[in-house]
Amino acid sequence: MAPKIILDCDPGHDDAVAILLAHRHCDVIGITTVSGNAPLAYTTDNALLVCQLGGLDTPVHAGADRPLLLPPQHAPRAHGETGLDGPPRPILDRTVTGRDAVGFIIETVRTTEDVWLVPIGPLTNVALAIRQAPDIVERLAGVSLMGGAIGPGNVTSTAEFNVWADPHAASIVYRSGVSVLRMAGLDLTHQFCVDQSTIDRLASQPGAVPQFVAGLFDFYLAGYRERAGLSAAPLHDPCAVLAVTHPELLEFTARHVDVETTGALTRGMTVADERPGTDAAPNCDVASRIDASEAMSLVVDALCSYA
Ligand code: BDR
Ligand code: CA
Repeated sequence: MAPKIILDCDPGHDDAVAILLAHRHCDVIGITTVSGNAPLAYTTDNALLVCQLGGLDTPVHAGADRPLLLPPQHAPRAHGETGLDGPPRPILDRTVTGRDAVGFIIETVRTTEDVWLVPIGPLTNVALAIRQAPDIVERLAGVSLMGGAIGPGNVTSTAEFNVWADPHAASIVYRSGVSVLRMAGLDLTHQFCVDQSTIDRLASQPGAVPQFVAGLFDFYLAGYRERAGLSAAPLHDPCAVLAVTHPELLEFTARHVDVETTGALTRGMTVADERPGTDAAPNCDVASRIDASEAMSLVVDALCSYA
């Protein structure tokens, strides 16, 4: 049976792909949106737009428009001002189902067995839900998130964007005690990259979705080329979906991971206890390797299935 998930996202080029991928391999009960790559109004419209293009009727609930304590931070360099810069933007003819993502998460988890939360943006909505309704933690099948890094960050030398943008929320999630917490951090996602051949393959397919995603990838890869001199761009967010749907394609290492919320140089750093013989009990399955070629085939096949 397909896993039941709530996808909590801030589309975002890679979030858009995660939405499309998830609908081919999961029972997506709902999509919740959060301020992150772009302001909430954009990330919400972007989620609706991706659903519209894909012909998906999944309810979309808008959530937090700012982190718990810090001012909102966005990622226009990677995703543009709209969060989905690149291809022509179709006219949106959909609206949200609700504007209380946190209430939706709580209600769904309380009334549905074995739900996975899959957060692929800043963790504000998930943290608010856990804080308001701690009872949901033990009802969850698990949390599979894209966030953090065991090695270098991408916003600062120590921090990855989703955790850096709302470190207090990330700290609540990592400390929640949820029985299964899977982490797809930068060490993993940088093994899973889109290159020109992937773009060409999508561009050769008929249909609005492959064409739109090819346009997204063009913009996204150009940014990585310019900023970092890379010829392939990490496709972060689909990894958190794959960690639920195809865990056999990933390798995990159990670790105790916590989040630095205040450090001048280390705010938003995910700190993994890697001491040999440590007595810190693991709270997290850190994904450390991915079968990138098999996983990329799955993603491309999912995108082409919308043709
Ligand atoms: C994460 O930050 C965002 O820019 C991406 O969508 C991804 O979720 C990578 O650091
Ligand atoms: Ca994201």
